[in-house]
Amino acid sequence: MSQVVVLQLLFILAWLAATTSALDSSSMVFPGCPNMCGNISVPYPFGFGDQKCYRQGFNLTCNKTGLFTEDMEVLNISLEGQLSVLSKIMKDCYNISGYRFYQNPLLQTLSNEPYTFSDTENRFTVLGCDTQGNIRGGDFFFISGCNMFSLTKSDVIDGQCAGIGCCQTTIPKGLKNLVIQVNSYDKHSNVFDFNPCGYAFLVQSSWYYFRRSDLLSFNNSADISGNYSRVPMVLDWAIDWTNQNQTCEEAKKNATTYACGGNSTCGVSKNGVGYACNCSHGYQGNPYLQDGCQGNT
Ligand SMILES: *[C@@H]1O[C@H](CO)[C@@H](O)[C@H](O)[C@H]1NC(C)=O
Ligand SMILES: *[C@@H]1O[C@H](CO)[C@@H](O)[C@H](O)[C@H]1NC(C)=O
Ligand SMILES: *[C@@H]1O[C@H](CO)[C@@H](O)[C@H](O)[C@H]1NC(C)=O
Ligand SMILES: *[C@@H]1O[C@H](CO)[C@@H](O)[C@H](O)[C@H]1NC(C)=O
Ligand SMILES: *[C@@H]1O[C@H](CO)[C@@H](O)[C@H](O)[C@H]1NC(C)=O
Ligand SMILES: *[C@@H]1O[C@H](CO)[C@@H](O)[C@H](O)[C@H]1NC(C)=O
Ligand SMILES: *[C@@H]1O[C@H](CO)[C@@H](O)[C@H](O)[C@H]1NC(C)=O
Ligand SMILES: *[C@@H]1O[C@H](CO)[C@@H](O)[C@H](O)[C@H]1NC(C)=O
Ligand SMILES: *[C@@H]1O[C@H](CO)[C@@H](O)[C@H](O)[C@H]1NC(C)=O
Ligand SMILES: *[C@@H]1O[C@H](CO)[C@@H](O)[C@H](O)[C@H]1NC(C)=O
Ligand SMILES: *[C@@H]1O[C@H](CO)[C@@H](O)[C@H](O)[C@H]1NC(C)=O
Repeated sequence: MSQVVVLQLLFILAWLAATTSALDSSSMVFPGCPNMCGNISVPYPFGFGDQKCYRQGFNLTCNKTGLFTEDMEVLNISLEGQLSVLSKIMKDCYNISGYRFYQNPLLQTLSNEPYTFSDTENRFTVLGCDTQGNIRGGDFFFISGCNMFSLTKSDVIDGQCAGIGCCQTTIPKGLKNLVIQVNSYDKHSNVFDFNPCGYAFLVQSSWYYFRRSDLLSFNNSADISGNYSRVPMVLDWAIDWTNQNQTCEEAKKNATTYACGGNSTCGVSKNGVGYACNCSHGYQGNPYLQDGCQGNT
């Protein structure tokens, strides 16, 4: 009898230990701040609403539509220094008489925000036959496309983004401003039946799978919002992004502004601009909060 009680007690203790050491998402935010926007968790240094809820520069907008940076919708935030967002695509469309009826300019700037375009997760992608796309940012300039007037629909193969109907390239580290353009050589006149538009965009490469039907209309793959089509893209984020030369040693000297909490370490951020924090070995939680990193014991 008493053995059963002891067993039950042990079970309850084990359960208590498990639930208290498990990281509930409320320990990821500044005390007294909301931890979710809809179904998206918003860990500190990110936050919205009250000023105490975020580190300067990491404020987001949360409303009924969703969670937003200055001009992009946020899908997910990871404490490992990345943010998944929906980004507009560049589109260049013609009607059968060769009249361009849609072309949106695409300038993406992250200048005053703690983000850089992730060079590891994204690929600059150009879709179209009779299409020339280019991307510029800082000293970087890349031009790509397909100029194959004899191309027929059957030359284009699903899943193969290697120059026929679809081309991709990587971007360099540290980019905060991008200009994307897309044009046509011959107004899509020879390929109009299966490709009336050219497209160019930066996209999370693991998300995008090229389909021949995307050349006819990219609508099914992209998220349509208002007049824009959007695709997922990854941003890297870091602390003190405005100070290119900030080292952890220097950052530590000012306890007021140093972002890493107790039992954590400081290191170079993913994109090389600014720094990032990690819980020390054996600790788990949010390294950006004073008491965010807790031992497993
Ligand atoms: C939130 O909900 C939407 C729609 O139900 C879903 O597509 C998305 O993956 C969810 N996001 C997270 C972070 O769970
Ligand atoms: C963050 O706060 C600044 C200053 O108040 C404001 O200009 C900016 O629009 C805010 N950003 C977001 C995404 O709400
Ligand atoms: C939510 O905020 C975003 C970005 O500021 C804005 O585009 C959108 O219209 C807002 N939605 C509502 C319902 O206010
Ligand atoms: C959000 O990011 C976390 C951490 O990187 C990941 O485990 C999770 O699957 C992501 N959720 C969505 C909906 O992308
Ligand atoms: C293409 O658009 C132009 C300009 O609006 C128009 O004059 C022309 O008739 C259109 N062609 C067709 C086949 O709809
Ligand atoms: C789908 O794409 C075509 C061609 O780009 C466009 O004409 C049409 O308006 C789009 N439909 C929606 C619902 O956006
Ligand atoms: C979409 O574009 C049309 C024509 O350019 C414009 O009249 C309309 O206001 C736009 N809608 C939105 C939601 O931006
Ligand atoms: C950052 O460091 C580089 C190389 O050490 C130096 O050339 C540059 O002037 C520094 N920039 C600033 C803003 O201090
Ligand atoms: C720490 O940074 C704050 C904000 O920039 C500044 O006001 C303060 O003087 C700095 N303290 C030291 C010791 O440098
Ligand atoms: C570091 O972790 C130890 C053991 O979990 C804990 O006692 C201590 O309070 C932590 N320090 C800080 C600053 O959180
Ligand atoms: C944090 O830890 C992960 C996993 O060990 C490592 O890949 C990453 O480089 C670390 N980041 C920093 C800023 O030290």
